[in-house]
Amino acid sequence: MTAKIIDGTAIAKEVRAEVKEKVAKRVAAGKPQPGLATVLVGERVDSATYVRMKQKACADLGMNSFHRPMPIDATQEEVEALVSELNADPAVNGILVQLPLPDHLDEEKVLQAIDLEKDVDGFHPINIGRLAQKGREPVFVPCTPYGCIYLLKKAGVELSGANAVVLGRSNIVGMPAALLLVKENATVTVVHSRTKNIEDVVRNADIIIAAIGMMEFVKGDWVKPGAAIIDVGINEKPDDTKKRGYRLVGDVNYEEAAEVADYITPVPGGVGPMTIAMLMANTLRAAEIQQD
Ligand code: GUN
Repeated sequence: MTAKIIDGTAIAKEVRAEVKEKVAKRVAAGKPQPGLATVLVGERVDSATYVRMKQKACADLGMNSFHRPMPIDATQEEVEALVSELNADPAVNGILVQLPLPDHLDEEKVLQAIDLEKDVDGFHPINIGRLAQKGREPVFVPCTPYGCIYLLKKAGVELSGANAVVLGRSNIVGMPAALLLVKENATVTVVHSRTKNIEDVVRNADIIIAAIGMMEFVKGDWVKPGAAIIDVGINEKPDDTKKRGYRLVGDVNYEEAAEVADYITPVPGGVGPMTIAMLMANTLRAAEIQQD
């Protein structure tokens, strides 16, 4: 193996320690504790787990969290009314509506109802629009893509002028990651289900961000020697040697790619811990914007 491992667990720990220290200083100076509201509509097991992790991170870092569960049959009006209530609450600095929402709800309208300065997920159409425009800055950047770019910079990878490939065009990861890379002056190709000759496109990349949700999709011989790889995928691979019957692997064949790349993130322990760390950083910044 030649690649250096980008240790997301350690880097997330540093970010969280920094946030924790700044929160403690604010509180010692008499400012209110930053607060994050989490809205979960329905009872999806994975979403409930993510929300619990976000609440725990708030507690660990000295922030308040306000959990606002809603029943699966909540109406559009009820969800938007809750967002309005949270917008008006000065104890709430950040609002996170866990996605996906049930199908009967209009996700765009719900996200649009969030106060721009409380949009710690960065999914408000105006924040995404600003991310896409030259000379404009969003108030917040979506947490997982923000974490990806943070890891690349921390590893010392040069983004300006690099050829970057993003696999996947989701609203949550792929598309905002591509927009962020453009802001960093990379030349970006977005690969998706209709892309032709994916291998050849990937072979040209100095930076690969894989967020396609397909187990070990990127093979070692697609990777340009010296590339930096950020693997966002989390897939369950059957493994009889594990008690739970599977192990987690990414969207990149790690063993193969690590022989060719210069930098690679492991799964787990790469991007995963960064998402919550960046959410905490965004929530602290929301408090700073609203209270300072
Ligand atoms: N669902 C999957 N990832 C995310 C995220 O980063 N934020 C929210 N709100 N929902 C998600």
